[in-house]
Amino acid sequence: MLVLGLESSCDETGVALYDTEAGLLAHHLHTQMAMHAEYGGVVPELASRDHIRRVVPLTRACLADAGKTLQDLDAIAYTQGPGLAGALLTAAAVANGLGVALGKPVIGVHHLEGHLLSPLLADPAPAFPFVALLVSGGHTQLMAVHGVGQYTLLGDTLDDAAGEAFDKTAKLLGLGYPGGPALSKLADTGDVNRFTLPRPMLHSGDLDFSFAGLKTAVLTLAKKQGEIDDATRADICAAFQAAMVEVLTAKCWGALKQTGLKQLVVAGGVGANRQLRAGLDAMAAKRRFKVFYPPLDLCTDNGAMIAFAGAQRLRHSHEAGSFAVRPRWDLSTLDAA
Ligand code: KG4
Ligand code: ZN
Repeated sequence: MLVLGLESSCDETGVALYDTEAGLLAHHLHTQMAMHAEYGGVVPELASRDHIRRVVPLTRACLADAGKTLQDLDAIAYTQGPGLAGALLTAAAVANGLGVALGKPVIGVHHLEGHLLSPLLADPAPAFPFVALLVSGGHTQLMAVHGVGQYTLLGDTLDDAAGEAFDKTAKLLGLGYPGGPALSKLADTGDVNRFTLPRPMLHSGDLDFSFAGLKTAVLTLAKKQGEIDDATRADICAAFQAAMVEVLTAKCWGALKQTGLKQLVVAGGVGANRQLRAGLDAMAAKRRFKVFYPPLDLCTDNGAMIAFAGAQRLRHSHEAGSFAVRPRWDLSTLDAA
């Protein structure tokens, strides 16, 4: 079965072709980062218009790469939510338009399910069940995953998401947008021992997170330093990243202990963070569990994870023709596939 996947929920247009026999055949991405950077964050109306410009050329590029035509498609999957309503409508309209034109089923995919299942595109891939750490710009969740659509929430953030904490902290340190990758790059050059920041909720006894206080601690520390030079900025970044990594890795281990599971899967944009990967790898070696990551280019938003999740949910496909996006959509309301 050949599935076209379309992602347009935020600031990346992603298109991919996934074949249930042959695997991922092609994937193309356009990031709007440079366009939004000027405004310090995503401008929804500009995002929608750019998705419209990109989605057809990216689809053509995928088909050309794979040597396929639209007629070869067996189904079309698109991100139905959550995300920006206007942005979501681009992939929804194209997917449903193609569905009607080709007489093929259309599958509305939950964006977070796409992230959650994306490590299954890695080699080696984990088998169910596993614990998933979902760390993106909008979410920080620990989940027990027993199968497609069988997700039990173990822990969640009480305020900022991990990616949001990276982005906001980067912004207050003058690192621009999107801050996560920039902060992380700078942190790798800093002295991690110069400053110590709090580890929020480390000993809370549950699997929840809170990152808003950490961002405030960075602000207080930065103010105390007065004029900040480049070296100090890098040292603050290193301290922030170390605090994030310690809390995230400790909670992952807590989730594995609580569930008795032996495999951890990391998904979402913050999963690209090198120190987080190093921290989890060290913990995995010490505690004897296995950790799986999606390929680096599939950590942030992409069409491949949508095509893949769509392929897992082919049975849930609907006839094209009536579509609705779901800007707010709770992952725990999904059915098992
Ligand atoms: O999963 P994603 O692409 O989009 C959402 O669905 O939110 O995640 C984007 C988030 C942003 O907050 C970005 O700053 C963060 O992931 N991010 C990183 C890194 N790469 C992306 N955060 C820390 N270190 C990184 N290397
Ligand atoms: Zn995402």
